[in-house]
Amino acid sequence: MATTTHSHAVQPQQVEQYLSGLSQYNVGPLWKFLRQALTPEPRSQAKPFLWRWHELRPQLLRAGELVSAAEAERRVLMLLNPGLEGRIATTHTLYGGLQLILPGEVAATHRHTPNALRFIMEGEGAYTVVDGEKMTMSFGDFVLTPNWTWHDHGSEASGPVVWLDGLDIPLATLLEGIFFEPYPDEAQAHTKPLNNSVAEYGKSGLLPTWQRFTGAHSPLLKYAWKDAREAVASLSSAAESPCDGAILEYVNPINGGPSLATMASFLQKLKPGQKTETHRHSVSAIYLAVEGHGRTLIEDKAYDWSPGDVFALPTWCWHAHENLSATEDAVLFSFNDAPVMKAFNWSREQTR
Ligand SMILES: [Fe+2]
Ligand SMILES: [Fe+2]
Repeated sequence: MATTTHSHAVQPQQVEQYLSGLSQYNVGPLWKFLRQALTPEPRSQAKPFLWRWHELRPQLLRAGELVSAAEAERRVLMLLNPGLEGRIATTHTLYGGLQLILPGEVAATHRHTPNALRFIMEGEGAYTVVDGEKMTMSFGDFVLTPNWTWHDHGSEASGPVVWLDGLDIPLATLLEGIFFEPYPDEAQAHTKPLNNSVAEYGKSGLLPTWQRFTGAHSPLLKYAWKDAREAVASLSSAAESPCDGAILEYVNPINGGPSLATMASFLQKLKPGQKTETHRHSVSAIYLAVEGHGRTLIEDKAYDWSPGDVFALPTWCWHAHENLSATEDAVLFSFNDAPVMKAFNWSREQTR
């Protein structure tokens, strides 16, 4: 095939004219945007950000005075990333919110395709019902309401109950996979024993023999605080991660996979004074400080945290965690989008 060189004949204004005329055909020149589209590494629009519990708790309680759970359906303050303005997003794939339920309230039954998780931050005596199974919720419990399961929340407590909601809403929105349905009746029937999934699947290494759950999420819908806290406490130093300290994942007990199809969740403990190595990964995460006082350096900026503070870690940001106390443990709960990134082989990690 003959090669033709046009450069001697083409005038710059001809090229400009050509380019400016292209939009009328709804096309564009990839050669002008190649490097912008195919970046050498991820460049998140999301920003690292920390939300302070001592600022948000009064705002949440004020919402409790102004808006009933019945009016709101879910009384939640969304954690909105300042880099993702106009989107319901805490990182580019994950959403976090603080939900308040007051004594006697019921948040109506509904279902949706986004997966949801809860980590109880304050109080006890609230409950979540998932597909007919009522689960009690106390401080530190981790509870799942997976894709398309009917769920409602209520409170038999004497004071406010607050939890962190985690959902894959930004990812589901991008993929245009959102479906939602309110329950046709006032409330769903409780068709299973209380905390049934814990009885069936909550004993480490012991599973029911004659029927085995085969869904895309964990059949265990509640992971009790006491068990998780003891598990991170009893992990030996040899089993620690250099970048995360004593970290355990809330897994599907059947296959050891993530508890939800799109989100993996973790509890980690940093010993007094412990400082982790710096790393970064193409996985974004939302962290909740559960115990102690610590600091997470994200892109060399310090985010100091105390119990109830939540922070967003965007994709591919260098980060390290530090326990600032010389005497007390620090404990972080977190969830990330690793199951999605790993499924498509888009997950990378580097240590510095
Ligand atoms: Fe929901
Ligand atoms: Fe990390």
